[in-house]
Amino acid sequence: SRTGVVVLAAGSGQRLGFGIPKAQVLLGEEPILRHALAGVVAASVADRIVVALPHGEKPGPGTLHEVVEVFLAEHRDAEWELSVVEGGATRADSVARALSALDGVERVLVHDAARPLVPVQVFQRVADALVAGARAVIPAIPVVDTIKQVHTSHGADADISPELVTGNIARESLRAVQTPQGFSYAALKAAHDDAQYLDDKQAEAITDDAMLLESRGVPVHVVAGSTYSLKITTPVDLILAEGLLEGPLA
Ligand code: CTP
Ligand code: MG
Repeated sequence: SRTGVVVLAAGSGQRLGFGIPKAQVLLGEEPILRHALAGVVAASVADRIVVALPHGEKPGPGTLHEVVEVFLAEHRDAEWELSVVEGGATRADSVARALSALDGVERVLVHDAARPLVPVQVFQRVADALVAGARAVIPAIPVVDTIKQVHTSHGADADISPELVTGNIARESLRAVQTPQGFSYAALKAAHDDAQYLDDKQAEAITDDAMLLESRGVPVHVVAGSTYSLKITTPVDLILAEGLLEGPLA
């Protein structure tokens, strides 16, 4: 009955644009990765934690390795074990590498360090669904924007704007999907083992883990996510997260 948690921090943070790995950027006074690790630990769902760090990062002062070492030093008597792996070129590749380091667990949660403020209740809802028998479970929230499908036009209208609306998608049936996503370890490992033969472009298109199981016919259960679980992608997200950290709801 062991549960592993993968914390993905191997991305470069191109869209945030700070010139350092996104997980190392400060949110309030601490690096994003530290917030993410604190959230995992506070939720008490993990027996083992594996953190994927940027490919080629050498340990040393001012690195994500150091963030992990400091965190470990502060939790010497913890019940969980924590280790690091080198991430890959794509998110899916980083997940695959972390899964290899978690052999022996029964269940696994895959979490983006880029979502540093996930409430403990969300971790627990995902973990509880796995214990209840789900092989795949994702946290999600309703979509608040009206979503339209567009088509790039090459006709005469393209002089005004090349995009034209082709349709609407009823938003009641849509969900914005977050992490941590939970899986039976065996099911997720098998899906990633098959995905290793994809080319880079196909691998880039795997933006979450649930889609790998959906394509294998595994039912993916949906539990309530949280607006606090926002992903830090662009600078405005960092400002929002800082507001959440300090705000009256924190
Ligand atoms: N990630 C990873 N390994 C990669 C790419 C992404 O572990 N090769 C992780 C990121 O660290 C992040 C999560 O996957 O926690 C979601 O990815 P994203 O938000 O795209 O982060 P980055 O890839 O770092 O950002 P960008 O795409 O803007 O460069
Ligand atoms: Mg990315």
